[in-house]
Amino acid sequence: MQHELNPYTPGSGLAPPALVGRDAEIVAFDQLRIRVRKQVPTVGRPLILSGFRGVGKTALLNQLRNLADQHDWLTIALEAQTTGEGRASVRTQLGRELTAAIRRFSVKNRVGDAAQRLLAMVGDFSISVAGIEVARNQPAGEIRRAASGSLDIDVQELVDDISDEVAAKQRGFAIFVDEMQDLDDDLLAALITAQHRSQQRTAPFYLVGAGLPSLPSTLTASRSYAERLFNYRRIGPLDHQTAAQALVEPARRMGADYSSEALDLLIEASHGYPYFLQEYGASIWDLAAVSTFTVSDAKAAIEVGQAQLDAGFYPGRWDRATGTERRYMIAMAGLPDPEPMTRAIADHLETTLSSVSGIRDELIKKGLIYSPERGRVAFTVPGMSEYIRRQTDPENPGHAGRPRHAGP
Ligand SMILES: Nc1ncnc2c1ncn2[C@@H]1O[C@H](COP(=O)(O)OP(=O)(O)OP(=O)(O)O)[C@@H](O)[C@H]1O
Ligand SMILES: [Mg+2]
Repeated sequence: MQHELNPYTPGSGLAPPALVGRDAEIVAFDQLRIRVRKQVPTVGRPLILSGFRGVGKTALLNQLRNLADQHDWLTIALEAQTTGEGRASVRTQLGRELTAAIRRFSVKNRVGDAAQRLLAMVGDFSISVAGIEVARNQPAGEIRRAASGSLDIDVQELVDDISDEVAAKQRGFAIFVDEMQDLDDDLLAALITAQHRSQQRTAPFYLVGAGLPSLPSTLTASRSYAERLFNYRRIGPLDHQTAAQALVEPARRMGADYSSEALDLLIEASHGYPYFLQEYGASIWDLAAVSTFTVSDAKAAIEVGQAQLDAGFYPGRWDRATGTERRYMIAMAGLPDPEPMTRAIADHLETTLSSVSGIRDELIKKGLIYSPERGRVAFTVPGMSEYIRRQTDPENPGHAGRPRHAGP
């Protein structure tokens, strides 16, 4: 089929040609919007999306933001980062995004003077969170909002004032945070506190997050009441029927289709993971000679798609690890338990638990593994064990062989 017309979107955070299987989350978010519009006295709980790499969290988060934007909410999006620099830049991004969002909101909703006041407040807030001391020309007795220099208080005042303004227009204020587990502790705590208080004040503020499976426990570790504050949704692979839709809908729109056997093969190979479905869909599109995709097209697409994943999706993660971290992951992949005990990994490496705990922590920080329960770890990337085993298997010289050696 013509390469230029390929409708599939394998990649990170790319809006899929058909976003399927997420109706429950979209409806749950839309209900929040309706509550705000109807001024229901309890504002409801915002969503926290968690799941493995490539399962479609970012795509869904973006979809929820689009929905909020379509209804003229005041929205901003942040992507948290693990590096020190990245963490600082998220705070700067917060100020900038808010400024732009208030401007957009004020134009759409004709807010006028109130917007000027909010913009001035965000300006002060940006200065205070960036840690820049300026001599403020502050008349005696005047207390400026969101400029105390205490992150908790400033975020709270900012959220209060913006929420009150948008509530007057029967709209909401939402902050969408991707990779939320990487947000710095202070900013995370301040945002959760603001969420808590907003629910008490019935102010329409929503902190909507997406991140790795560890995200719910990161939030409760920050503030124990976070457990009751959010609507936690585990984002998983698609079931057979929705996975079929993810492949078939984009093809049909372009005048192509699958034989049912071909479809079954691709779904089985993908285990319903959206990233893999997009990769196999893109491969079969490029390979097929005619517009009804056959079993032999599917078999070839699985081979090409997997090679593609082994050349991109997996190494993209693997390359982030150092030599010792790779040895740890190879040991993990060598154990039969998909969620091995850290003690078993240390035994496998013929070392003590304490000497590998730093490596484990680094891998968690890099988002390659997480701890599903105390004393256990698991990969955040679906199929990572198999990838490592495929590459380190001396009987299998076929692939790029990246992890064959643990590296430097
Ligand atoms: N509901 C869906 N239906 C079909 N395809 C989807 C769906 N959601 C996401 N995808 C596709 O799956 C791939 C991965 O999506 P996305 O980047 O949102 O995953 P993620 O969970 O954010 O991954 P990561 O943890 O690596 O950030 C993309 O190619 C995207 O187009
Ligand atoms: Mg993502």
